[in-house]
Parts: sequence; C-alpha cells; structure tokens
Amino acid sequence: MKRVTAKAPANIAFIKYWGKKNESLRIPANSSISMNLSEVFTQTSVEFSANLKSDKVKIDNLPVKGSEKVRVVRHLDMIRKLSGLNLYADVTSNNNFPKGTGLASSASGFAALTLAAAKAAGLDLQEKKLSILARIGSGSACRSIPSGFVEWKEGNSSENSYAHSLYPPEYWDICDVIAVVGEVGKKVSSTEGHTLVDSSPFYKSRILEMPKKIRQLKSSFEKKDFTDFGRIIEAEAINMHSVMMTSSPALYYWTPKTMEVMLAVVEWRDKELECYFTIDAGPNVHIMCLAKYAQKVKNQLKKISGIKRIIINNPSIGARLI
Ligand code: PMV
Repeated sequence: MKRVTAKAPANIAFIKYWGKKNESLRIPANSSISMNLSEVFTQTSVEFSANLKSDKVKIDNLPVKGSEKVRVVRHLDMIRKLSGLNLYADVTSNNNFPKGTGLASSASGFAALTLAAAKAAGLDLQEKKLSILARIGSGSACRSIPSGFVEWKEGNSSENSYAHSLYPPEYWDICDVIAVVGEVGKKVSSTEGHTLVDSSPFYKSRILEMPKKIRQLKSSFEKKDFTDFGRIIEAEAINMHSVMMTSSPALYYWTPKTMEVMLAVVEWRDKELECYFTIDAGPNVHIMCLAKYAQKVKNQLKKISGIKRIIINNPSIGARLI
C-alpha cells in the first residue's frame, strides 16, 4: 500500500489542560486554548504492508520498544479497526527537537501519526474526527490538528471532546520565543502527572475559575489586546504549576534556569519590552511577544548563560499531508 507522510506542529497552551474527567479516553477536566508552532514539529510516515509480521516503529532513527511502542500500536489498532484494514504498519517518525522536554513531542507526534496512519489506511476523515483520534493518543495532540489559534472544548464524551480553530495563523502577529533550558527527558510524564491533580488543595479552585478565565482570554483575542492576553496566560501558567507543585507526590518541572528566565521576563517588561512567559510540563520557557519584538527578546535571552537553544515561532497551520 502507499506510504503516506504527515507533518504536525507542536502547540503551546495558553489555557492549560491539566487533569482529566476520563483517564483512558483522555477527556479533560477543562477546555484549553493553544497556538500551533511553526518551528517545532514532527514528520511521520506510515505504510501498511502485507510483508510485515508486526508493527515496526522508529522515532528519531531509533526502534521504539516498551510502553512507548504499546502506545503507538494501540493507536494503529484503533485506525485498523476504523478502516477494517488488517495489516501491520511501518512507522517512521522524526522530531526536529528533543523528545520529553516539555516541547510537546507527544502532541505533534500523535497528531502526525493520526493523519498519516488514517490516510495510509485509506480513510478520508474530517478534521473533527482526526482531532478526536489524536486526543485518544495524547490529549493535547487534538489541538495540533486544526490551524492557528485553537480551542479544545472539554466535552463530556469521546465524540464531543475535540479541538477547533478559533482563528487562522495570520489573525494575530504574535510569536512564541522558546528558551530551551533543558534537553534531558522529564522524570514524570504528563500522562502520569494528570492523575495527581486531585491531591492538590488548589485544584478545585483552579477548575472553578476556568470558565471565567477562558472568557477573558477569548475577549483579549477578539480585541487583540496583548497586555490582557499576556497577563492572563502568565497567571494561568503559574496557576497550573502551583497545582503541580502542591500535588502528592509534588511535581517540579522547573529548574533554577527556568526561574532565572521567568524573572528576566518580568524585568524586561518593566523596561518596556513587553513579553510574558508560559511553561508546559517541562523546564523550557515560552516567551510570548508581538512579532516585532521577537528578535529583541532573542537578543536579551542570548545574554543569559546556559540557554541551550532559542526558537522563534510564528503561529502555524495544523497537521497536513506532505
Ligand atoms: O497532552 P499531554 O498529556 O502531554 O498533557 C499536556 C499538558 C500540558 O502541556 C502541561 C498543558 C497543555 O495543555 O498542553
């Protein structure tokens, strides 16, 4: 059968998904909002073949084993079931960034796998269905299917929990300048982290405040009010990390370098360089600014020692076939 290749972006969450209503179907406790990233992505090719005796999976040129392989095979099984195809697959996936560092490799990875595998199996699925399937692979992957600025409506069943585009990439000229401060894989995966939320005394209030926060963020988008937008996303990141750090066991995704960059961002703001940080489940800091300031932010970051890489991202289209 034909080999099909898909490319999908990673995404940065402005309103975070942390905690689930349904563990295995990955139905989130709250809706979330994100932006797809132009420079951080996964490219995956899939071919189903009668010559294979099992699924073959390679990520970043290495054969995948253990639980990581089981997760991919389960995803392929779901697509085989949908298409009625009974063949094993050869899967090759490449990230242009290190896995497991909070740069959301599972999001771009499962979005690209979903699109490539569905197409290779002869399915022609709508964006909504692709987003649902990607979500089952890895929650935030559902947001890497639609384009630009994306909302994942929590829903209450598998069929109504999926992401849609709020605005196309060109709607707002903002950038995510990523300060990569750590390239070692994280100790606690986000899949495991999600299960700890109820042990944090702050989680209930986080969930109660969510609808209001989402309304406020959407209004900042409508008005393209960058100051409002920045204040909301920075407070939201701190809110999620407070839940993480107060769960049992406590999850600390930050390193001293993370904190150094966060404080620098606050200082730059005081000196008229308007930018705000947000952080997912890893040590890297995503600095949001208007596109015209991206280079300035990068230049400031260069002055901080120990930053391994700086990546300027524009808003991007979602998963596509190539
Ligand atoms: O999709 P997961 O299980 O990798 O969880 C993602 C969690 C965060 O990155 C911390 C937040 C988010 O909404 O992307």
